[in-house]
Amino acid sequence: MGIIEATGLRKTFAGEVPVEALKDIGLVIEEGEFVGIMGPSGSGKSTLLHMLALLDDPTTGQITVDGIDVLALSSIQKTSFRLHKLGYVFQEYALLPELNALENVYLPLMMLGAPAKDYGKAAMEMMETVGLGKRASHLVSQMSGGEQQRVAIARALVNHSKILFADEPCANLDTRNSEIVMKLLRQLCDERRQTIVMVTHEPEHRQYMDRVVWIKDGVMDHEEMCGQ
Ligand SMILES: Nc1ncnc2c1ncn2[C@@H]1O[C@H](COP(=O)(O)OP(=O)(O)OP(=O)(O)O)[C@@H](O)[C@H]1O
Ligand SMILES: [Mg+2]
Repeated sequence: MGIIEATGLRKTFAGEVPVEALKDIGLVIEEGEFVGIMGPSGSGKSTLLHMLALLDDPTTGQITVDGIDVLALSSIQKTSFRLHKLGYVFQEYALLPELNALENVYLPLMMLGAPAKDYGKAAMEMMETVGLGKRASHLVSQMSGGEQQRVAIARALVNHSKILFADEPCANLDTRNSEIVMKLLRQLCDERRQTIVMVTHEPEHRQYMDRVVWIKDGVMDHEEMCGQ
């Protein structure tokens, strides 16, 4: 069984002219896989990611994550599931500028009620994993975009998230920083068997991925196995 299994996903956004953003998507993602979602602008990539990541509900369809029928969960159960099992990274880093890097990383553990001595240590380990051990006490507002995105990745994974969801995490980064972030994601996949689902526009990101799911007009166009 895949860590994510989705069948018959449809999403229609209501409005004067309803938008059928996803038409009938079926997808299985295996544990430890690094999967990309690619396709033209407006094709439904972010919508699909949001469904799989429990950030929005499909109009119809079924989704199992880590063996749980997630659409059957109450909204409180869903929030708890997200906090315990999922991690998120977006184009905007969404860090708190008045906190230092380490404090940003341990916030999710504080929210989960971990004792202070435990979350400090876990957050520091994650900072080292993303190569920023020496920058832990720096304010994130004084860090580069690439560094801030690595802090965001550390924060997303500090609770040992089973799945990391990323929507264009390199969109605001220059080529060099994009490469650092993509290498880090590949390393997390290789060394920790981290499952990663990532939306991207950049064809060169495929070299870091196991597989790309190509979306076109709300349907799956084809799948591409990548070099890894
Ligand atoms: N909240 C919303 N309300 C109405 N329509 C929406 C909403 N979110 C997305 N859409 C529409 O659904 C379609 C798919 O949008 P989506 O954001 O998933 O595309 P995308 O592939 O991520 O595009 P991009 O590459 O530009 O980020 C688009 O036509 C978009 O306008
Ligand atoms: Mg998008």
